[in-house]
Amino acid sequence: MMRTIRDLEITGKRVLIRVDFNVPMDESGNITDDLRITSVLDTIEYAVSKKARVILCSHMGRPKGKRVERFSLAPVARHLGELLGKKVSFAPDCIGAEVEAMVATMQDGDVLLLENLRFHAEEQENDPAFAKQLARIADVYINNAFAVSHRAHASVVGVTRYVAEKAAGFLLEKELEYFHRSVDEPVRPLVAIVGGAKVSSKLGALTNMLDKVDAMLIGGAMANTFLKSQGHGVGASKVENDLMQEASKFLTTASQKGVKVYLPVDVVAADSFAADAVSKQVTIQDIPDGWMALDIGPATVICFQEVLRDARTIIWNGPMGAFEMDPFAQGTRGVARAVASAHALSITGGGDSNAAVKKFGEAPNISYMSTGGGAFLMLMEGKELPGVVALEG
Ligand code: 3PG
Repeated sequence: MMRTIRDLEITGKRVLIRVDFNVPMDESGNITDDLRITSVLDTIEYAVSKKARVILCSHMGRPKGKRVERFSLAPVARHLGELLGKKVSFAPDCIGAEVEAMVATMQDGDVLLLENLRFHAEEQENDPAFAKQLARIADVYINNAFAVSHRAHASVVGVTRYVAEKAAGFLLEKELEYFHRSVDEPVRPLVAIVGGAKVSSKLGALTNMLDKVDAMLIGGAMANTFLKSQGHGVGASKVENDLMQEASKFLTTASQKGVKVYLPVDVVAADSFAADAVSKQVTIQDIPDGWMALDIGPATVICFQEVLRDARTIIWNGPMGAFEMDPFAQGTRGVARAVASAHALSITGGGDSNAAVKKFGEAPNISYMSTGGGAFLMLMEGKELPGVVALEG
């Protein structure tokens, strides 16, 4: 059993909490979705209530080991302070003498956020010396960063070797519990909805899920590769030609295992990838030459909705089309509505699915929106997360 922060004595201790504050921001530095921040408030508040000295660390974006101002966590510190209703100090770096001095002056119950870990290349290299430097400012290490626990980085894996005590935070615990409940011990039927751009990034997840689910709905651009592998002409739609055989093999395996895989029967096709493109609904036999499928069509939505109506557990990763453009949003909207109104435990994972669920106002009726993208996919692939393994070791 993995220990959690509840199991540790943290009063008066320096508690280093790895969080994932890699949140989307607009050009003016405003946070456009703070789910990853609101999701860890309970852990922070718990540590504060126990009078721990709370030191938070996170990455933001991919600055490639250099200081890049637009990836600074300073705006996150401000926002976090507002959410907590409490002062959140901000350190200009994540390691070094200045940070150590700031930590030394902390009082019980104080909160300090460190600057972006990825301003140092050593973070992603899982460099032991860097991990040791992080560990120097901690008596206790808490991993509450589910969304980056698929990365064997210094603040996720390396640091666990050099701290006296380590455990999971409430978010990591909750994410693993929801995933486990929905995939390993589901109330059946369990239906997976998989969409998004590429089969290549999801083939492992699709294959592993075949052993778990009762039915699978495939939409988004990745459906084109499956359709083409079955001999359908898909016009100028995005297709991964090198995966044709794999896609075909996947469908054969699914039918051998008795898993029903639903592909689109119609699509919204357009003459270009643009919101003002000329578009029309066509069956998959009728996609005009040179046109591309940008959404699932209305007959497919009805078919998917019927499958979802009977589901008792639903796991959703990836949108059904280019939903950010209104003419191609109906498929994802219809599926979001069906997921939200199903009498099922529903979990969504990945930035796009969560953004879609929010955009269509269905978020309150989803059982759980995971903060993970790559980490969520890795669980769908049936693999262990290095960050979780490191806590157990
Ligand atoms: C994510 O957004 O999925 C996590 O924050 C991990 O980010 P990364 O893909 O840059 O490692």
